[in-house]
Amino acid sequence: MSDLNHFLDLDQIDSLTLRAIVDEGLAMKRGDAGTDKPLAGKTLAMIFEKPSTRTRVSFEVGMKQLGGDVVVLNAGDLQLGRGETVADTARVLSRYVDCIMMRTFSAENIREMSEHATVPVINGLTDASHPCQLMADVMAFEEHRGPIRGKVVAWSGDGNNMASSWIHAAAKFGFELRIACPPERSPDPALFAWAEQNGGKVTLTHDPEAAVAGADCVVTDTWVSMGDDTSNAHNQLAPFQVTETLMAKAKPDAVFMHCLPAHREEEVTSAVIDGPQSIVFDEAENRLHSQKAILHWCLA
Ligand code: CP
Ligand code: NVA
Repeated sequence: MSDLNHFLDLDQIDSLTLRAIVDEGLAMKRGDAGTDKPLAGKTLAMIFEKPSTRTRVSFEVGMKQLGGDVVVLNAGDLQLGRGETVADTARVLSRYVDCIMMRTFSAENIREMSEHATVPVINGLTDASHPCQLMADVMAFEEHRGPIRGKVVAWSGDGNNMASSWIHAAAKFGFELRIACPPERSPDPALFAWAEQNGGKVTLTHDPEAAVAGADCVVTDTWVSMGDDTSNAHNQLAPFQVTETLMAKAKPDAVFMHCLPAHREEEVTSAVIDGPQSIVFDEAENRLHSQKAILHWCLA
């Protein structure tokens, strides 16, 4: 077991640590976290096997605001793309940089990177999860509606990597999560079992209105994630579109969240994502603040 502060998945980090990282992110956003450059002299390497706008830019800007530097690497330009192993890439990069962030298809690659790196590794999204996004999401909810503990969050859409990280977050931050998705696109049952064993209140339904009834937050994500080659996703997911009619079933002051990028008139109507309940751009902004807190924790 490594004594490095890897940020791999929310289920692997204790609740108090996650709470402290969100709180530091909020303090950094308010400008209350000190003005020194705690990561001066440190370098972050970022490896991207998939596209990214928010993750790429927010990590680079965040690292620089903390006094550090970055190296951005497209996986296809590395020897990784020609068959060098993730393990050897981890060993080599660890000789040059102080932290590695990786966005990759297989969760196995992140595990292998963290097992062989001698510096902290951050999961910048895999097919299985997106933990950095959830830190920004919890922050955004709390800025608008106060502590998330005890609140009700409803997911209507694909049971994808974001849904999985919401399940982890529900248990770690103590809110109720109701997931509505098609039976064919439900999250791994093991996640629900994990949530139950860890005190999480997470339920699965195939009825979006039942999930959203009285919720404090409605959240969705793209119907087709990066690397998902399912052809009939649109047909399966159409009943789960977040519309004004669906939003009206939630609490009157419910917020709408989406990690972005969004596809208007697919998973969410323009009226909702561009409407008064939507906090999606605060959510996107918070990737910067929450990741500065994650980097600070990893490199402390
Ligand atoms: N939400 C998110 O991770 O966005 P990017 O794919 O643009 O990084
Ligand atoms: N579920 C989406 C999230 C993008 C940030 C995907 O994996 O493409």
